[in-house]
Amino acid sequence: MGSSRRNRSDELIVEYDPKSPAAEAYRTLRTNISFLSPDDPLTKISLSSSGPSEGKSLTVANLAISMAQNNKDVIVIDADLRKPMQHKFYGMTNFAGLSNVLTGEIGFAEGLQETGIDGLRLLTTGTIPPNPSELLNSKKMEEVIKQAEAESDMLIIDTPPVIAVTDTAILATKVDGILLVIASHEAEQDMVVKAKEQLDKVQANVIGTVLNKYPIDKGRGYQNYYYYYGGESVDG
Ligand SMILES: Nc1ncnc2c1ncn2[C@@H]1O[C@H](COP(=O)(O)OP(=O)(O)OP(=O)(O)O)[C@@H](O)[C@H]1O
Ligand SMILES: [Mg+2]
Repeated sequence: MGSSRRNRSDELIVEYDPKSPAAEAYRTLRTNISFLSPDDPLTKISLSSSGPSEGKSLTVANLAISMAQNNKDVIVIDADLRKPMQHKFYGMTNFAGLSNVLTGEIGFAEGLQETGIDGLRLLTTGTIPPNPSELLNSKKMEEVIKQAEAESDMLIIDTPPVIAVTDTAILATKVDGILLVIASHEAEQDMVVKAKEQLDKVQANVIGTVLNKYPIDKGRGYQNYYYYYGGESVDG
């Protein structure tokens, strides 16, 4: 409460209700990611889902906070240039960000903003460009990923749905692995299969799935979250 919260969203449950089962679920997800490749820890991942509104952005934010709480330096890049979201969670502005770095208007360091949460910095989407795919598929994007990786212990990229655009699959090949968020009772099975196929086609490393919006207590619906991690090992 108060101005120090900068109008941060109360959906950042890991920050505001760290003892809740939902926060615990995000920490379990964090732990599972660290178990995936103990000898060669993942340092850059992306998140997506087959369809819209399955909870990609909120999962990115809560996962990022749980990693920051674990004393990691975390950078989040909002690469959903069609539906910018990350800045809203922290009550931040989005005057300049990724798109402006990609076009060379500003440098990476200039674009990176403090979120107000220790250890967590955010590169917002920036100005919505007319040509998101071109920007995201550029060499410059690879440079931005490299810079972000060099400046953090963990880079997490929020991306559009896999089915919607090819950007997500292409971006997934530029990180260590991609996590697929699946909204229970919402995601269509053939869409999930199709998303996985699209990712396989470009040889993206699907490191696991997050079952989201799973109603534990029917009476309280979505108020309860539960994540199930069912990933494949990184080595296959
Ligand atoms: N575990 C959850 N429990 C309850 N509500 C959730 C949960 N995860 C996400 N939501 C809600 O679902 C909606 C979509 O979430 P979010 O924006 O994170 O999804 P998205 O997959 O990033 O969507 P988009 O495709 O628009 O980028 C939001 O209203 C969010 O509050
Ligand atoms: Mg989103």
